[in-house]
Amino acid sequence: MRASVLSDWLAQRLDRGNGQPIYRQLHRLLQQAILSRELPPGSKVPSSRLLAQELGIGRNTVTQVYEQLVLEGYVSSATGRGTFVADSAPDEIVGVPDAEAPAARSEPAPQQARRALSTRGARLIAGAGVSKRQWGAFMPGVPDVTKFPARVWSRLHNKYWRRLRPDLLTYAPGGGLASLRHALADYLRTSRSVRCTPEQIIITTGIHQSVDLAVRLLSDPGDVIWTEDPCYWGVRSVLHVSGLESRPIAVDEEGINPSADDLAQPPKLMLVTPSHQYPLGMVMSLARRRMLLEYARQNQCWIIEDDYDSEYRYGSRPLASLQGLDTSGQVIYVGSFGKTLFPGLRIGYLVVPEALAESFATASAELYREGQLLQQAMLAEFIAEGHFTSHIRKMRTLYGQRRQTLLDAAAQRYGDALPAVGGDAGLHLVMQLPDGTDDRRVAAAALERNIVVRPLSGYYAQPLLAPSGLLIGYACVPDEEIAPALNTLADAIDATLPEFV
Ligand SMILES: Cc1ncc(COP(=O)(O)O)c(C=O)c1O
Repeated sequence: MRASVLSDWLAQRLDRGNGQPIYRQLHRLLQQAILSRELPPGSKVPSSRLLAQELGIGRNTVTQVYEQLVLEGYVSSATGRGTFVADSAPDEIVGVPDAEAPAARSEPAPQQARRALSTRGARLIAGAGVSKRQWGAFMPGVPDVTKFPARVWSRLHNKYWRRLRPDLLTYAPGGGLASLRHALADYLRTSRSVRCTPEQIIITTGIHQSVDLAVRLLSDPGDVIWTEDPCYWGVRSVLHVSGLESRPIAVDEEGINPSADDLAQPPKLMLVTPSHQYPLGMVMSLARRRMLLEYARQNQCWIIEDDYDSEYRYGSRPLASLQGLDTSGQVIYVGSFGKTLFPGLRIGYLVVPEALAESFATASAELYREGQLLQQAMLAEFIAEGHFTSHIRKMRTLYGQRRQTLLDAAAQRYGDALPAVGGDAGLHLVMQLPDGTDDRRVAAAALERNIVVRPLSGYYAQPLLAPSGLLIGYACVPDEEIAPALNTLADAIDATLPEFV
């Protein structure tokens, strides 16, 4: 497509009256043009000045869309030459090697890999947020695994392996081990006000798998799901590869905050973190909970409630779940032992409405051919003997202290200059950086000093327009290491933002 043809093509499709921001429409249209090869690999896109002029929109809007497409790997820009559709555009199909193009054989491995990937595979890899490091200061979302009661676990482990039971070593029946489902139903009813029977609980390998199962069973490719903006990158990726269209919805102090335009187009599903918005930390108000439940009931949409770390509230009691308020069976509740015990355990669960329980159990066994019954038996006994609640109680005290130590260290270094948000809960805080700061650069500078933090902007649908900040996980950092690690992080911030020192 030539530049003038592209402008016409875009002009015909941009709709100023549909309530969707022009930035988002232009971004989606250009992605579409690249994926459908209307804009083939290697082709030059018009300069931002020209395109802005021809479409009658702000040049900044076009620049920001181009920058976003660069980040996502759709285009690359060469200084002085312009912006080009990437050679390894996400939908490239492996073809017969072209004898006339020997250079193709010597292209770097990552580019070869991208050529081999499907469209959704390439998108997943281009947008992947997973970190190579999963431990150490200040890894967000990771509890202190060194405090796990290993002795109790090892006693249970020995017990089960001494009395070898074939039924625990074979594939799992759909839904997981009955004793764990019973123990969990008791825990969720009393601690989280979840209304459920053991049969409504489906054991999975964690929230990622729970969300995957829920969207496969309750939606079809192309259906729309509302996600909070910002939201957890991992679940966002799960939704993308399932072929759902994510519609990012802004959050305010009361949680997800759909506009009148959003409400006018009901989604098939929505994914929310009512107890502790991830990553900003606010709690969804009762009014907003009621509004969402009523809206979901009237429009027959599903709400997936991600209750990933609600056990950790430091000033007040843990809040009741959204599921507990639901009287019409619209909520799918998902939780995990990843934060309460240890992430590598890979045991999580869904609580589904009674009418869906059988289908979810069957689908889970059918799709994932579950196992891990021995670990499930150990975990059921661990809960029944009271170790689970006692571990949570101890960790709540410990993490509350670590959180305060971190806040004190930050205040000592910066006073009020870098405010922290994140509520009085969870395993991380968000430190806000001055507007316009490139938080990815700050995170990279911290990593060079062996400190892991995540840039806040990466959790937003449009990172280039997002507020700037850092996610700082304190739970897995020993008390005495928090202040020194904060100082190392502050050195990285000061080196990146010299005007701030
Ligand atoms: C909001 C949120 N949901 C889900 C998860 C992942 O849960 P799991 O380890 O059970 O898959 C995380 C991990 O950090 C998270 O932050």
